[in-house]
Amino acid sequence: MAELLSMGLFENRGRLLVVRKKEEATPFAGKWLLPAALVAEEDSAEEALERHAFRDLDVQTGAVEFSETLYLEDEAQHQRYVANVFRVAGYKGDLRLRAASDYDDARWLTSDELTGIAMPDVLRDWLQSGRHQPDQPAPVPIATGATAPDNRTAWNAISRAYQDRYQIPTDSIQWGPFCPSESELQLLGDVSGLRAIVIGCGGGQDCIALAKQGATVIGIDLSDKQIEYGRRLADREGVLVTLLQGSAEQLQEIEDESQDLAVSAHALNYVERADRAFAELFRVLRPGSRFVFSVAHPFDACLEGGPPFGVIKGYWETQQDWQWEFPERSATAKFRSWYRSVSEWFSLLTDAGFVVERMLEPPVEAGESPWDGSYDKEKTKLIPTTLIIKAKKP
Ligand SMILES: C[S@@+](CC[C@H](N)C(=O)[O-])C[C@H]1O[C@@H](n2cnc3c(N)ncnc32)[C@H](O)[C@@H]1O
Repeated sequence: MAELLSMGLFENRGRLLVVRKKEEATPFAGKWLLPAALVAEEDSAEEALERHAFRDLDVQTGAVEFSETLYLEDEAQHQRYVANVFRVAGYKGDLRLRAASDYDDARWLTSDELTGIAMPDVLRDWLQSGRHQPDQPAPVPIATGATAPDNRTAWNAISRAYQDRYQIPTDSIQWGPFCPSESELQLLGDVSGLRAIVIGCGGGQDCIALAKQGATVIGIDLSDKQIEYGRRLADREGVLVTLLQGSAEQLQEIEDESQDLAVSAHALNYVERADRAFAELFRVLRPGSRFVFSVAHPFDACLEGGPPFGVIKGYWETQQDWQWEFPERSATAKFRSWYRSVSEWFSLLTDAGFVVERMLEPPVEAGESPWDGSYDKEKTKLIPTTLIIKAKKP
């Protein structure tokens, strides 16, 4: 008769935790597995997993979510197992193998690195291809309430967890999930000697990238925590940039026609009055300057984040509230975003006086980014994650 196993799927930044059973520990002696507990008759699968994680890995698991049932066979024992896999949303404690553990090794591996280790094929196949969920919890839409979530408070609340999770590079502007970065797209041309403004600069990485290429950079962001992070990062990298807390809708510290380039990457969806932001950018740019920005593609918010990718929002429904969870840091916040249709972005730009030169909707195979682990790749094969627009002040 098949026995019951309860397995824990621990994920961190695109890697998952695998453990190797000791040679003398059955079942699956000497094999790599997800942490797995035998479930006794009087136990629930969740309780068995929780006890096992504490006894073997010295952590207290928080909420777990059922993910899949797999049918495994330990060929050496001629024994079959029904394994219920639970995604572990968060845990307390520093993961380590206890002396009494059934395991003698534990590693965080990418799906690709599972090839070539001694692991039951059924488990490996599921981990590599059947597991459609993203590696990191993705933002989930929530009912739009009467009170608008405060985006400044929200970004302050998750800033540290966001920066820790995504580790955004500072060598080239990152346009968005699965998008080629600026070093490949070359939308800005030579920025050396230009005065550049970055709107919604977050942790300052894009500002630092521009400064490294010889631009004089001002970054504006609504969140003081993001600005503080950016200042520390610029110091660490030995780069001079000016980072200011403020809103894209009011650039009062910036003089008329004082900038030669404006950039924004995945920030303008958080701005309610994009018309005001564009009017301000038009004011501060000198004639002939470029404004290049990326936003979440308006189709992306219309479909669920995971299979079967059902429609959750109409294309012309602009406003959406959602929640972002960072269980690894016990951080969470509610956000409000504005998803304008492609033609609306075009009209907002031209109404402000800009000339639109190019629009890009990079397909998934086009690039890699720090955020890829938070997206379901199958979804990104259907619709673009990001819309990039290059405009010019005539
Ligand atoms: C996704 S981050 C973009 C920064 C960077 N490109 C990145 O992806 O991490 C979005 C940023 O927009 C900022 N933001 C939101 N609303 C804003 C507003 N009205 N004015 C300026 N910045 C804003 C947030 O504080 C946040 O740091």
